[in-house]
Amino acid sequence: MSKNRTIGMWLYTNGGGDKIAKKIIKKLKQRDIKVINDIKLHDCVSKNGHILYKDLKVDQLDLFFSYNAGEQTQYQTYLYQALNRVVPMINSYDSFALTEDKFQTSFVLRNAGIPTADYKLCHRDNTQALKEIIKKWDKMVYKPTDGWGGVGLTKIESEASLDMLMPFLNHMDLRYFYVEKFIKYDNTDFRIDIVDGKFVSCYGRKASGNDWRTNVTSGGSVFLREAPSEAIKIAKKACKICGVDIGGVDIIYDIEKEQYIVLEVNGIPAFATPEQEKLGLDFNNKKIDLIVDLIDKKSRSV
Ligand SMILES: Nc1ncnc2c1ncn2[C@@H]1O[C@H](COP(=O)(O)OP(=O)(O)O)[C@@H](O)[C@H]1O
Ligand SMILES: [Mg+2]
Repeated sequence: MSKNRTIGMWLYTNGGGDKIAKKIIKKLKQRDIKVINDIKLHDCVSKNGHILYKDLKVDQLDLFFSYNAGEQTQYQTYLYQALNRVVPMINSYDSFALTEDKFQTSFVLRNAGIPTADYKLCHRDNTQALKEIIKKWDKMVYKPTDGWGGVGLTKIESEASLDMLMPFLNHMDLRYFYVEKFIKYDNTDFRIDIVDGKFVSCYGRKASGNDWRTNVTSGGSVFLREAPSEAIKIAKKACKICGVDIGGVDIIYDIEKEQYIVLEVNGIPAFATPEQEKLGLDFNNKKIDLIVDLIDKKSRSV
């Protein structure tokens, strides 16, 4: 007989996250799976082979579901890594860490034959490599490899503007430079959510005014949009290659290459907010059901 299962969860509470958590807990209860919610690894200590949250031994849970992008800390991700060695996690630590880094993600995707923006990574001393690539590409985007929300992305439009930017970049004490070819596209993107290899939803985002970034944090707006089947195929493949159980894949259509390309894979894609639900983004219940199925499946193997 299988024992009663107890899983741990940490899910963001803003933007309607608290209500989502309640629904997940209720649905898991119907399957005899108990949820201990709001376990903050940041507040845990580890001693003698255990990770402790107050009196709870987190390492003895049947699974841990970590879904909070906004409140991560270095200490929390350090314990995420340790916990994943002994407890199944969604997402796995490896896939989480991979998708947190844009270079590592592009490298792995491209190596697997999934279309991405052309990119170049070089040591910070190797400014020659950057000069060579801007000649070839004409326009490129400097990207912090661990950024989000379009923050820190810088469009470099000519060799002269690269020369102007170099002193600032050198000043920032970076270990390396990661740049992508600037893709000609219509300033809209597709956000495609995948759970356990299954298509959940697609919506679009459009950059505002003359900004070229679609992120809502950069002024972009969300709109209803059907996913082209080709884009769904690519999103599923991207999640598989990255090893994420849950992924939100950012895709744009490259006008010159005439193909969909993956910009990044988000390991903690947000549910639709109450405002977005009013716009017609109605995928939350489907996503919850698929996540509940996934938790049920992955917590059995213990
Ligand atoms: N190579 C590129 N060419 C043109 N636009 C880009 C490129 N990379 C990113 N963008 C724009 O910038 C936005 C943010 O880039 P992304 O890689 O998704 O990082 P973030 O984690 O900040 O969302 C994208 O949604 C897209 O609109
Ligand atoms: Mg993005």
